[in-house]
Amino acid sequence: MEACRASLLWFDPLADGPLARYESDGLLVVGSGPAPGSPQRVVDVGAWNDLAPRYADVPVTHWPGRLITPGFVDLHIHYPQLDVIGSPADGLLPWLERYTFPHESRFHDPAYAASVAEVFLDELLRNGVTTALTFATSHPASVDALMAAAGGRGIKLVAGKVLQDRHSPDGVRDETEQSLIDTERLIQRWHGQGRLGYAITPRFAPSCSDAQMRGAAELAARYPQVWIQSHVAENLDEVRWVRELYPSARSYLAVYGDFGLLRERAVYAHCIHLDDTDRALMRETGAAAAVSPTSNLFLGSGFFDYASADRAGMRYGLASDVGGGTSFCPFHTMLAAYHVGRASVTGGGLAKQGLSLAPSHLWWQHTAGAAAAMGLEGVTGNLAPGCEADFVVLNPQAKPLLARKWSQADSLEEALFALIVLGDDRVIEQVRPAVRPAA
Ligand code: GUN
Ligand code: ZN
Repeated sequence: MEACRASLLWFDPLADGPLARYESDGLLVVGSGPAPGSPQRVVDVGAWNDLAPRYADVPVTHWPGRLITPGFVDLHIHYPQLDVIGSPADGLLPWLERYTFPHESRFHDPAYAASVAEVFLDELLRNGVTTALTFATSHPASVDALMAAAGGRGIKLVAGKVLQDRHSPDGVRDETEQSLIDTERLIQRWHGQGRLGYAITPRFAPSCSDAQMRGAAELAARYPQVWIQSHVAENLDEVRWVRELYPSARSYLAVYGDFGLLRERAVYAHCIHLDDTDRALMRETGAAAAVSPTSNLFLGSGFFDYASADRAGMRYGLASDVGGGTSFCPFHTMLAAYHVGRASVTGGGLAKQGLSLAPSHLWWQHTAGAAAAMGLEGVTGNLAPGCEADFVVLNPQAKPLLARKWSQADSLEEALFALIVLGDDRVIEQVRPAVRPAA
């Protein structure tokens, strides 16, 4: 066992939602996992005064002036879009055609895929992200490259080969039967290997034939522990397109439901243009939304409706959605989510009072809430006893203006807000995935 003394933030594991727990002078005790080589677990967390006598024999690293929080969970990101960040276009569909598909076509080359995978994983970890649900490309080799690189870094990574057998250009379009054979082979090769998991990844309804969607759903039923990831209701032109393709479906989301692709461990990016019947369907099926505010602002897609999502009781968490999204940095994503809450209007666009999402709620969305959206509550994204011990050490002194604001904070919420508004990767002093990276 080993321990860290610092200010500590985690979330009440018994609360149904974001109940922050905080100790200004805390002790986090971690120990080895149940099996050799398995992730380290949190043994105890609480006030230094209470816990120090009980763990007197355990070596303690003291981090004065630092805040330890759970490692961040990025609920939706595209590793092959690392170099697509900041590509301007008139909305989603032109952006896919002009930048994204041509770029993703390069990942047929395993050496290129491997080189991008290294940079991508380094960037996640550098930004304090210790769990990520990520798209690869339609090329199976892109998954192999990413998984192989992730294995040595200790990150908890769930990824999948993109399925897209129609309305996609040469170079990224796959072939229906082969795509499903490849998906099953990749599930068998990678799912459950150490901290790696597989996600069945239909890109979005317009890019998948009925046969491919049916095949994806059959695999999802046969492998219930495997994730599903896709996109839904991101952009109004996309929504119109889906209505033309599926005129008898009740909604865009219902297309996935009708094929059998809504269930626990299914994460749908965006979920902007949903109605309340869709939101009820999300709750009933256990599917979750990956809220991607920097992407939605960059591509002009719209605003996630937090109030309606909460009323419906659907699950959601935060995501960078790089490369539609503009940053790997969880602070930037949380700040953009705050802006979205302020700007959100419901009820036909009539200006209503926006929400003021609490900083601890934003933090929960990017840690324990995102983990719960993946069906990983009690496993990752939190520092409650029993959780896999992924954590980050934050240094508010790393930026002069932040140090100043931090020192004036009168409450936990004010302190977290200072980090969200003024923080960036300089603040992340140490990143400790629950499995130590290979030397
Ligand atoms: N919809 C289908 N593919 C994509 C993608 O790569 N990014 C985003 N933001 N939306 C999509
Ligand atoms: Zn996406």
